Amino acid sequence: MHGDMARILYSSKDIQNRIQAMAREINEAYPEGDLVLLGVLSGSLLFLADLARALDRHVILDFIAVSSYEGGTQSTGVVRMLKDVSVSIEGRDVLLVEDIIDTGLTINYLLENLTTRHPRSLAVCALLDKVAARTAPVPIRFTGFEVPNEFLVGYGLDYQQRYRNLPYVGILKPEVFKLPQA
Ligand code: PRP
Repeated sequence: MHGDMARILYSSKDIQNRIQAMAREINEAYPEGDLVLLGVLSGSLLFLADLARALDRHVILDFIAVSSYEGGTQSTGVVRMLKDVSVSIEGRDVLLVEDIIDTGLTINYLLENLTTRHPRSLAVCALLDKVAARTAPVPIRFTGFEVPNEFLVGYGLDYQQRYRNLPYVGILKPEVFKLPQA
């Protein structure tokens, strides 16, 4: 375990096992043909890579980048589009892939934005669901784990851009993780 971590919530093995089960669900839910896995950068990168490898079907990988946390610990409340999709999603089955749904602001912005491009279907797949932090309902079709309302890092999740590369999800020691002044 990294020296900055207080504890591990989901080990690498927990995550990989859950991803295998999610992949089976996703395989069964979609008809044959291309499924667009649309990863929300940067957090979803590790999850998307492992999920794509677990899926036994054709997938198209694409990425969209938005930011509302600006490297901090609390949503700024404003979603900024940093990079749009590269492929056309019109008439296609699209699965938005997120590392975590927190307030729901980011994903609701993306759902609204992407719906206007007329995909055949548009659904959300999130490894982590922080239900207690939700400010508006989010339709999540595939969920990995429901997580406690704590600041998590690892497996794509960052604190000031660090810790994304950890293969597990955990909680930082209080001396490392400094809450912003109110
Ligand atoms: C994180 C995460 C989600 C979003 C969830 O991204 O990857 O996209 O926050 O929070 P919300 O439900 O409150 O909107 P962030 O903006 O921190 O960018 P990152 O993926 O580059 O870390």
